[in-house]
Amino acid sequence: MKADIIEVAKRRGFFWKSSDIYQGISGFYDYGPIGSLLKRRFESLWRRYFLGLDDNFHEIESSLIMPENVFAASGHLQSFVDPIVRCSKCGHAERADHILEDILKESFEGLKAGEMMAIIKKHGIKCSKCKGAFSEVGTLNMMFPINVGTGNDVKKAYLIPETAQGAYVNFKACFDVMRRRLPLGLAIVGRAFRNEISPRQGLIRMREFTQAELQIFFDPEMIGSHERFDSIANYKLKLFPVKNRGNQKTEEIQAKEALSFLPKFYVYHMARVQQFYLDILRLPKEKFRFRELAEEERAFYNKYHWDIEIFLESTGWKEIAGLHYRTDHDLAGHEKTSKTSMHVNIDGKGILPHVLEISMGVDRNIYMLLELGYEEEKERTVIRFPRLLSPMDAGVFPLVNKDGLPEKAAEIKSLLEAAGFKAFYDDGGSIGRRYRRIDEIGVPAGITIDHDTLKSNTVTLRDRDTMRQIRVNIRDLSLTMKHFLEGEDMGKLGTIVETKQG
Ligand code: GAP
Repeated sequence: MKADIIEVAKRRGFFWKSSDIYQGISGFYDYGPIGSLLKRRFESLWRRYFLGLDDNFHEIESSLIMPENVFAASGHLQSFVDPIVRCSKCGHAERADHILEDILKESFEGLKAGEMMAIIKKHGIKCSKCKGAFSEVGTLNMMFPINVGTGNDVKKAYLIPETAQGAYVNFKACFDVMRRRLPLGLAIVGRAFRNEISPRQGLIRMREFTQAELQIFFDPEMIGSHERFDSIANYKLKLFPVKNRGNQKTEEIQAKEALSFLPKFYVYHMARVQQFYLDILRLPKEKFRFRELAEEERAFYNKYHWDIEIFLESTGWKEIAGLHYRTDHDLAGHEKTSKTSMHVNIDGKGILPHVLEISMGVDRNIYMLLELGYEEEKERTVIRFPRLLSPMDAGVFPLVNKDGLPEKAAEIKSLLEAAGFKAFYDDGGSIGRRYRRIDEIGVPAGITIDHDTLKSNTVTLRDRDTMRQIRVNIRDLSLTMKHFLEGEDMGKLGTIVETKQG
């Protein structure tokens, strides 16, 4: 069994409960110095990869507070609800599907209220606080309402429950300034707020969290095509379709085979999302899958909806992202409610674009990376983050604090920083202790300056994951670090050297 990741995260400076000195409120977390670096890196990598998919994909920034009309148009006012039960004795409220999930260890998402209540009654499930009986299953809207302004000028508004609406309300303005072409991608990396009834498991279910979402607006007539489909046609997708719920089998099929049940535009982006996780983040293939959602489980705005799931020891398969075909649900809603046309004209043809959404929870991804990477070994604990994502690139260590080694180490640190790497200097304690310290926060490279450095102008480069070391000429250090961070095997970067200290 893995350690308590939330405890590890706090001890090592990744994240902890917000306003902790006042006991805080559940569902709110703050990132510490190491966690902030990790989160920024994830977001930068996300931007580089997803905005790089097309030259008409752009990042925008929009308000965290939006007027009520936006959510009347999007359907959130009416449909963004969770099923809850309330204890008839003490009034304690819980999410009905979560109680069932916790006790019966299977998913009950999407079940109708009556069906959930029947299961609660059948199993005699009682309030966890006072053992009272639960009332009927009701619903609670998950948005945080707020009043903006004072006196007669108060406007009803909400904290945004997803970044997506920012892209929809800005679609027309962005289309006009970005050369009037489709597909147009609008990305937002920012906060979202949901009044979760039972926030839990640290960053998995929060009340304030960060999403990285890309809304791709396209001509619905083009859903059966993608100009770069051939580049992924033979790529194998890992799919867990609804029809396999019984046997729990994940299938591996080529992207072109998926065209028998999904449109090309959707499948192309499935492949790109999978490549982000397997090729860029280098997650183990067996821990990744797309899970198809049944009609009753899908978000109210989706026609096709497959979640991206990662297998975690603590939770089993966990949703960390989704690929949503939202049709014209949102633009049509905003057109109707705002009375502003969302149609565009391309070559004389009036089009109401459809939307494909790639939606990720940044914090859930961070939690997943932390849990997947964390390992307690015999002589050390280590977090094996993907090298490119680690909070820092390298620790730089003088072997001893004399003979000119500290000065040389400071020089190497500056050299690495000038080349764009994030390095830090540490001369405290034995070299073994210093290696352990970087292992514990997942820094991939340990660079040591020893007496040979002064003679041969070389340093040792130690790989966090295998503890193997190579000697690298200082002249080649930046290039070697670049290849190392991109995932190159140590054996290919130099000759492995024997050392006393791991
Ligand atoms: N715009 C679509 C949308 O928001 P979603 O499935 O509700 O879809 C997308 O959320 C992603 O946001 C999820 O896959 C998850 O990673 C993250 N997410 C959703 N609710 C969350 C919460 N309460 N705490 C942390 N992350 C959450």
